[in-house]
Amino acid sequence: MPSSHTSSSTSSMPASSTEEGAPVMLECQALTRTYSEGPRDLTVLDNLSLSVRAGERVAVVGSSGSGKTTLLNLMGGLDRPTSGRVVIGGESLAGLNEAALGRFRNRYIGFVYQFHHLLAEFTAVENAALPLIIRGQRKHDAQKRALALLASVGMEARADHKPGELSGGERQRVAIARALVTDPSLVLMDEPTGNLDQTTAATILALMDELAKESACAFVIVTHDTSLAAHQDRVLKLDAGQLVEEE
Ligand SMILES: Nc1ncnc2c1ncn2[C@@H]1O[C@H](COP(=O)(O)OP(=O)(O)OP(=O)(O)O)[C@@H](O)[C@H]1O
Ligand SMILES: [Mg+2]
Repeated sequence: MPSSHTSSSTSSMPASSTEEGAPVMLECQALTRTYSEGPRDLTVLDNLSLSVRAGERVAVVGSSGSGKTTLLNLMGGLDRPTSGRVVIGGESLAGLNEAALGRFRNRYIGFVYQFHHLLAEFTAVENAALPLIIRGQRKHDAQKRALALLASVGMEARADHKPGELSGGERQRVAIARALVTDPSLVLMDEPTGNLDQTTAATILALMDELAKESACAFVIVTHDTSLAAHQDRVLKLDAGQLVEEE
């Protein structure tokens, strides 16, 4: 992890401080998630703990069905744990009601879903600008910023196209631009390079490097892509509901 991250210069979030290194941005404390919808209870995450510092990038790997998306959803406040807590920048998500959680997410978290979730009726630039519009920013300013992000993922020329007119990898890049448009403190990505060729994936990596360095943004990236995982500060494997450090 680069040493410049201690200052957390452009990150607006007051992360909780620690004795050494950058402040902790994300903490998962004894997280358990049990699904009770089926005929039998299924415990996907079992007393899992993790701490990620500002500017740090963590890859989470694991076999299909091991609970990676479940974990990311808890970290992003899209789902609530059965027990345990998620703390972001010193704020426990458990203490926020749905409306406050929505505002908190919009302010501090960028989320790239495994299946994009772009709005079909909106163009690429409108989709990417949406978090800023929700925040109350003027349309013109929001779209200007969205266009800059789209340009940084090589999508400038396709900005006026709707998701139905874009390839899988292009949609993925719009989703990445949308996640980064608010300059978040924490970015959670579920298979962000699943549909990308090596050159495009490298562009995304460079953008992540820049954000981690310049705005002390913390990343948790779920991926099957070994080169993407190897590029992160730490690689953790989700297995039997627990995270184990990979060599
Ligand atoms: N809402 C739900 N109700 C019941 N079981 C669920 C629910 N969501 C996920 N599961 C189960 O929990 C387990 C973990 O699912 P999850 O989507 O987190 O896996 P994953 O590691 O992201 O897999 P993949 O790599 O295929 O995306 C799976 O066995 C899945 O069937
Ligand atoms: Mg998944």
